[in-house]
Amino acid sequence: MNIIFLAAPGAGKGTLSDMLKAKYGYNHISAGEVLREEVSSGSELGNEIKAIIDKGMLIDDELMKKLMLKKLSSLDKSKNFIFDGYPRTVVQVNHYKEICKELEIEEAYGIYLYIDKDVAMKRALGRRNCPNCKRGYNIYSDDFKPMVEGICDDCNVELISRNDDNEESFNKRFDTYLKETEPLIKIFDVEGKLVEFDALKNSSKLFSEIEEFLEKNK
Ligand code: AP5
Ligand code: MG
Repeated sequence: MNIIFLAAPGAGKGTLSDMLKAKYGYNHISAGEVLREEVSSGSELGNEIKAIIDKGMLIDDELMKKLMLKKLSSLDKSKNFIFDGYPRTVVQVNHYKEICKELEIEEAYGIYLYIDKDVAMKRALGRRNCPNCKRGYNIYSDDFKPMVEGICDDCNVELISRNDDNEESFNKRFDTYLKETEPLIKIFDVEGKLVEFDALKNSSKLFSEIEEFLEKNK
């Protein structure tokens, strides 16, 4: 089954996607990662995208459609897909349906991860990543702390923070989520394609609940 994580910033979309990918070999399409790759390329488009991400705002729907179509076309369609952060607006839901039709990808089931703003903010502000292998860490969580403070367990290089993981950007991202993305939960629910999980739980517990759901709904 293909899935879409519908959730606020910091809820755990990326973390759960990595766990599912490692265990079941999903294609993981993170809209944020697709955009950050464009930023890292140093292109003019990348610089424009960076300015928008840093402000916690959303990239234009048409541009997102183009980038997602390109990314999805490059992936192995024999594996299931995890959509992490796309679609994020009502217009993007229509685009996503058009993309699925064009590429003959089965439409996904929405997994809504519920989380309080204060917990989500603490998770985002405590997030660190390895610039080399991209592994995610969190300085406030015993489950995700690196063995040596500030250093990747696997690569032995210094961990970094995302530019948009500051209080100001987070507040804007969360407001944008409430205004633009939360309405999607109703859309998926009305279509009978929504399941909800409590993202306040620790990630192993949450992961096994999601596994159980996926197992039952193969
Ligand atoms: P994106 O990269 O998608 O960021 P986001 O939506 O703000 O979500 P995050 O990545 O911050 O949170 P997450 O849910 O993945 O949490 P994670 O698993 O890392 O998008 C960035 C920006 O790109 C957007 O703001 C926008 O500008 C643009 N963009 C992206 N998609 C777009 C679109 N479709 N249209 C237009 N613009 C778009 O977890 C967070 C931390 O918590 C980690 O440190 C982790 O270790 C820890 N953690 C995770 N789970 C748990 C747990 N259960 N218990 C304790 N700690 C946990
Ligand atoms: Mg993420």
